[in-house]
Amino acid sequence: MSKIHAVITGVGGYVPEYILDNQELSTMMDTSDEWITTRVGIKERRILKESNAGTSYMAVKAAEELFAKTSVKPEEIDLILVATTTSDYIFPSCASVVAEKLGIKNALGFDLQAACSGFIVALTNAASFIESGRYKKVLVFGAEKMSSITNYEDRTTAPLFGDGAGVVLVEPSTDELGVMDSLLYTDGGGGKHLMLKAGGSAHPASYETIDRHEHSIYQEGQAVFKHAVTNMAGASGDIMDKNNLTSEDINWLIPHQANLRIIDAVVNRTGVDYSRVIINIEKYGNTSAATIPICIWEYEKKFKKGDNIILTAFGAGFTWGAVWLKWAY
Ligand code: UT7
Repeated sequence: MSKIHAVITGVGGYVPEYILDNQELSTMMDTSDEWITTRVGIKERRILKESNAGTSYMAVKAAEELFAKTSVKPEEIDLILVATTTSDYIFPSCASVVAEKLGIKNALGFDLQAACSGFIVALTNAASFIESGRYKKVLVFGAEKMSSITNYEDRTTAPLFGDGAGVVLVEPSTDELGVMDSLLYTDGGGGKHLMLKAGGSAHPASYETIDRHEHSIYQEGQAVFKHAVTNMAGASGDIMDKNNLTSEDINWLIPHQANLRIIDAVVNRTGVDYSRVIINIEKYGNTSAATIPICIWEYEKKFKKGDNIILTAFGAGFTWGAVWLKWAY
């Protein structure tokens, strides 16, 4: 019997309408368009302004687009994986909220928390579920409302993050396409450098945690930067070496969009020509688990069947890795 592969068969995405550009940010804190552009590569980011709308709002919009573009119906979905750090609630899961809003009644749904690496971790999980033969139609989301955990008085983090969602449909195929390999890692020693200090079970919300701004992102930028460069470049190069892929074999490189200088390091290590590197950080900033599916959504029309695509990400935890994908349509 031929091996079952997990292939992406549909894509959807959503970014909020409101654009927070560097100019407006400069009126809110001591920063400048020049600093943000040269140090990070971001010009603007999208912010979800709808009242009482959480991450599920954007995930649902992305999935509605996917359903409209494919012939798949909500009742056919049998698994929902949502990679997010900004679930609407600590519980129930964002996947449960999304299932209810989309009318998905015949699926298991749960969230995965691997911070900015969440989408590649979720996609790899989806591939395992599909390859087992037990699941046939899996929705894999990367969705984040980063503005809900951003302190807009902190110039070291506020310019970096934005909101958005992307989703892919993953199905079985016996063709040599889809998720071919992945390398995923965790180094818990990195946890202290990038975290949300309060609101979890170790430090539940209190007046003190609010006063100390511990419900928004804490990041030691340089430590994270150093590890992101080493590990994203390393994982991308390793997955290519392991599978005997040269830079010429790679049609598209899709790196997590955290900092243009980190992306440059990945490009140098892999040798992939810049024209084949997908970059949209200038428009959306770092949407954490959503950066890669948003890139896939924006570039879907450029992909051709059989294209070799490398996805790579790094995030809190630390978590990082790379996925080798063969585009299926
Ligand atoms: O996605 C998950 C993983 N996250 C990442 O991969 C992010 C990794 N880290 C980074 O991308 C970079 O470290 C940052 C973009 C966060 C910071 O860039 P940096 O080049 O590492 O800057 P820095 O933290 O070393 O700060 C340099 C200077 C400091 O001033 P002094 O001490 O040299 O006077 C900062 O206070 O830049 C200052 N600075 C700013 N100036 C204007 C920091 N933020 C700003 C700002 N505007 N927004």
